[in-house]
Amino acid sequence: MTTTTTRLLLSATLVLFASAMAHTIETTAPAPDPEMARAAQVARGEYLVNAMSCHDCHTPWKEGPNGPAPDMSRALTGHPADLVMPPPARLEGPWVWSAAGTNTAFAGPWGVSFTANLTPDPETGLGRWTAETFIATMKTGRHEGKGRPLLPPMPYFSVAALTDDDMRAVFAYLQSLPPVHNRVPAPIDPPETAQ
Ligand code: HEC
Repeated sequence: MTTTTTRLLLSATLVLFASAMAHTIETTAPAPDPEMARAAQVARGEYLVNAMSCHDCHTPWKEGPNGPAPDMSRALTGHPADLVMPPPARLEGPWVWSAAGTNTAFAGPWGVSFTANLTPDPETGLGRWTAETFIATMKTGRHEGKGRPLLPPMPYFSVAALTDDDMRAVFAYLQSLPPVHNRVPAPIDPPETAQ
């Protein structure tokens, strides 16, 4: 064989090999990996939770080196069960509402509201919720999507302004948190309507 023929044969083989590789790559194009898709959804949810201030009210604040800040060791666990609030002080208008230093209990014309435990604890958090319960709650502004109206200052309307996919991402992130047992007290009616 001449050197030219050898070269030609060699390059033909290379072309064949390259096209075989291309074919393999094409036909084995990665099927969407459910685990990676889930991780991406959780990361999107974390981003939204941080940007939409959920920690502001659902993570108890404490005094830190730079002043009061959410205590991330209790991230999204809601009003601490062991912080029993005394009856709220009477406010003179134009002051209409007051908050605990933890920013997890609020008193106003609606009575007293306490922020929910958003971790997936089945007894005291969102462990028994589905993404549908979460979306219905935000869209209707009702407890678990069907009960009493949600009390201020929960900004359910801001969450409802997200797309359903983004709400699913927020919920997926909340469900990925370690479940923390913290039984938040039930809201208290205002004195005029309390039985
Ligand atoms: C300004 C304070 C505030 C912010 C910010 C806030 N929440 Fe809330 N949230 C509350 C309060 C107060 C309640 C309790 C309302 C009640 O008992 O009716 C609550 C309740 C909830 C509940 C329980 C609803 C139910 O049916 O019982 C969920 C879920 C929730 N919040 C999710 C979120 C998420 C997600 C974010 C961030 C996007 C967020 N909240 C931001 C104050 C807040």
